[in-house]
Amino acid sequence: MTVRLGVLASGRGSNLQALLDAERAGTMPATVAVVLANKADAHALARAKAADVPAHFVDPKGLTREAHEALMTERLREARVDFVCLAGYMRVLTPSFVATWRERLINIHPSLLPAFPGLDAQRQAFEAGVRVAGATTHFVDDGVDQGPIILQAAVPVLEGDTRDALAARILEVEHRLYPLTVKLLAEGRVRLDGRRVRISGALPAGVSTASLFPPDVTK
Ligand code: GRF
Repeated sequence: MTVRLGVLASGRGSNLQALLDAERAGTMPATVAVVLANKADAHALARAKAADVPAHFVDPKGLTREAHEALMTERLREARVDFVCLAGYMRVLTPSFVATWRERLINIHPSLLPAFPGLDAQRQAFEAGVRVAGATTHFVDDGVDQGPIILQAAVPVLEGDTRDALAARILEVEHRLYPLTVKLLAEGRVRLDGRRVRISGALPAGVSTASLFPPDVTK
């Protein structure tokens, strides 16, 4: 079965692109059914259009958060989405939206949560001097970057790194982690057990969290 995704974005949209590319490559039994942005100039909208995916700017101007999110839910329902993927969506969602999409709302964050939630997690990690940074996919709950963790992949911090070099390596890992997360969800292999996420079966051949390390730094 192919599951339908709604993707919410605010900017660049490189994680959206990773999902579109995985769909096209047939590595993920999911289709991006609709893309919604809260910024008119979000590059994610252009990426969606280039891939022939319906894309809408949902203007938050003059609306309460609830009203804005109600419009998004309407669009998501029209598109009959099974899961909602946050991909650089830079607005905190209300408990009501989170409840509507409970267990079907996922996010990707550029740190090994629960370390460094919030803005510019890559800078936070870099400035904290950690040796290992990374990326996390998780279910969204009412806390910011706090829901049950689905997958994580580590990215070593290298001598002479800068915030930007580290962020670029984390992003590469994100682009593998998000499609893999969606694949597992689409295959029905992800189950919530309290705060813990259980994943059934082995990860696909050749894929493990270890193989998500950029190859040049794990050798
Ligand atoms: C990514 O680093 C993601 O983890 C975070 O926001 C960034 C979005 O980048 N939530 P992009 O718009 O997908 O390129």
